[in-house]
Amino acid sequence: MSQLKGVILAGGTASRLNPLTKVTNKHLLPVGRVPMIYHPIKKLKDVGIEHILIVTGVNHMGDVVSLLGSGKDFGCKFTYKVQDEAGGIAQALALAENFAGSSPITVILGDNIFEDNLESHKTAFIENGTGAHIVLKEVSDPHRFGVAEIGGEKVISIEEKPTHPKTNLAVTGIYFYDNRVYDIIRKLQPSERGEYEISDVNNHYIAMQQMSFSRMQGWWSDAGTFESLARVQSLVMEAPPQ
Ligand code: G1P
Repeated sequence: MSQLKGVILAGGTASRLNPLTKVTNKHLLPVGRVPMIYHPIKKLKDVGIEHILIVTGVNHMGDVVSLLGSGKDFGCKFTYKVQDEAGGIAQALALAENFAGSSPITVILGDNIFEDNLESHKTAFIENGTGAHIVLKEVSDPHRFGVAEIGGEKVISIEEKPTHPKTNLAVTGIYFYDNRVYDIIRKLQPSERGEYEISDVNNHYIAMQQMSFSRMQGWWSDAGTFESLARVQSLVMEAPPQ
């Protein structure tokens, strides 16, 4: 398998955090002592992933580049791509095709903050040699997330924000894909909310029997609502990510 590259998706309008996100991007808001986006960068760097694509919207790309630069200060090499409109996570991921080339990718949603080192998850993906890999975490509010149904070592299905979740296993915003992911995205139709859903991508891999999973051992949270952003703040201050 050629070397893994990283993708951080940092677009979206983050309207749930208005007015905090009226003049800036959610991923530039503080989490602990640093801007939110520093956390996923560190997670990738910690497992030796230095080639990282950062996708963000047109409004705040300037600020993102001003903050992060070439990646030199982080020991990384950053590439940037603009997502013209907020059309969903899968649409943003499609922009990674040229950057990735033949390499598989590790994708992190930029508002996912977590404790685990990615090494064991990365190893689980690499051992498969092909396909996709997701990271699951038990949560008390699964209806807010993609929810996975599992049977033994297999993922049976993923439902995006179900009203009646079958399990309490949230699909975290940490994904590993081989380079077939772009063909899969090209086949997608937008969901009812008009977005290209990452859960639809994952369900394609499940249908091909090419999806594996591991469980997040430490704490994990998104930071897209006031409640989750506040939770992340205290988690980061009390038990800084490894
Ligand atoms: C997205 C995904 C969802 C996933 C979540 C993790 O939701 O669509 O499947 O569980 O990220 O943070 P969003 O928070 O963008 O609505």
